[in-house]
Amino acid sequence: MSTATSDAGAGTTAGFVEPTPSALLLLGQGRDLASERGVECPGALPSPSDPDLVERARAARAALGDSLFVLGHHYQRDEVIQFADVTGDSFRLAREAAARPQAEHIVFCGVHFMAESADILTAPDQKVLLPDLAAGCSMADMAAIEQVEEAWEVLADAGVADSTVPVTYMNSSAAIKAFTGRHGGTVCTSSNAQVALRWAFDQVGGAEGQGTVLFMPDQHLGRNTAVLQLGLRPEDCVVFDPRRPGGGLTAQQLRDARMVLWRGHCSVHGRFSARNVSEVRERVPGVTVLVHPECTHEVVTAADMVGSTEYIVRALGAAEPGSSWAIGTELNLVRRLARQHPELDVHYLDSTVCFCSTMNRIDLPHLVWTLESLVQGRTVNRVVVDADDAHWARVALDQMLALPGL
Ligand code: 13P
Ligand code: SF4
Repeated sequence: MSTATSDAGAGTTAGFVEPTPSALLLLGQGRDLASERGVECPGALPSPSDPDLVERARAARAALGDSLFVLGHHYQRDEVIQFADVTGDSFRLAREAAARPQAEHIVFCGVHFMAESADILTAPDQKVLLPDLAAGCSMADMAAIEQVEEAWEVLADAGVADSTVPVTYMNSSAAIKAFTGRHGGTVCTSSNAQVALRWAFDQVGGAEGQGTVLFMPDQHLGRNTAVLQLGLRPEDCVVFDPRRPGGGLTAQQLRDARMVLWRGHCSVHGRFSARNVSEVRERVPGVTVLVHPECTHEVVTAADMVGSTEYIVRALGAAEPGSSWAIGTELNLVRRLARQHPELDVHYLDSTVCFCSTMNRIDLPHLVWTLESLVQGRTVNRVVVDADDAHWARVALDQMLALPGL
């Protein structure tokens, strides 16, 4: 469990333009402790139409100097990413946060679970701020700690808990990372899932042995990695549905499984279909289809390449000029890559717009409000993980950071 603190008072603040009510903000109102995110944004946000926003952000950054470090996930809007000291995937950003002990304030332009991880990996006197606390992750919210604890009991009743290692995707709450640390498991991201799964199976006799991995909360990343990279069969994987008694599985199914996949998915990557892949191949002869491993197994097997956001960035950086690419991941990143690579022919895999709505919540008004508040001596939207969860989540995160070959 983490809390969010803010020492900003609501209402107007001298020098701020009156906030413009935004339909998006309403979605984030109200506290939802069962969710991995969760409170309203109490600030007097500048108006999105303020023509000085870019200048204000620059000035605030300059005033804060080295005491500030801004991290930006690849899915962030251009208006925000331009102010990031470092951009990257969730693995790189976790490493970068851990490597900045001199920064008193780390402003995380990403989503809540990433800010929690940064808080866990930084020193107690460093403060991690998330410009809009409603920037959660719908996938992370598909696994609640109470459900995970119940699932573990189901595994124990089936007699497999002792030979099961939990692996949680970075996209999960700090409480679930702590559960994973307590039970001898590891965190993984989409750029190290293969190494993490191999390590986990090695704890219980290897990928060819008898042990089991409980993979949370993204069933697709778990299945794609187990089948395509570790050579398990699709039938070695079962899906545990936390809303059904016993996960919707029999004890025998749990005993026979090698991978118990949590029934979670990403609403953005879940939109891509194998039909999108065949359509783009018809439309763009010679196109290379590159997708994120959160896509369904059907999409990943129909694609030519699969990899994390960092992998996608690197692949386009190394691509042959004139080559054609269809990318299956969040739209902010794909549009930016298309602009950064005019020498390439870059297409979006789906024909309809597909932003991550929670990543998009971090916009320039929220960033300016966060930075200017810091300049005025107020820390807003601080994300703090409670000490016990932080300790055990760190065990699981450190295990990830120590995985061989990373
Ligand atoms: P990366 O681990 O590739 O950064 O992805 C995080 C994420 O949320 C993808 O949807
Ligand atoms: Fe979560 Fe999907 Fe958004 Fe990534 S793209 S933050 S997994 S909802």
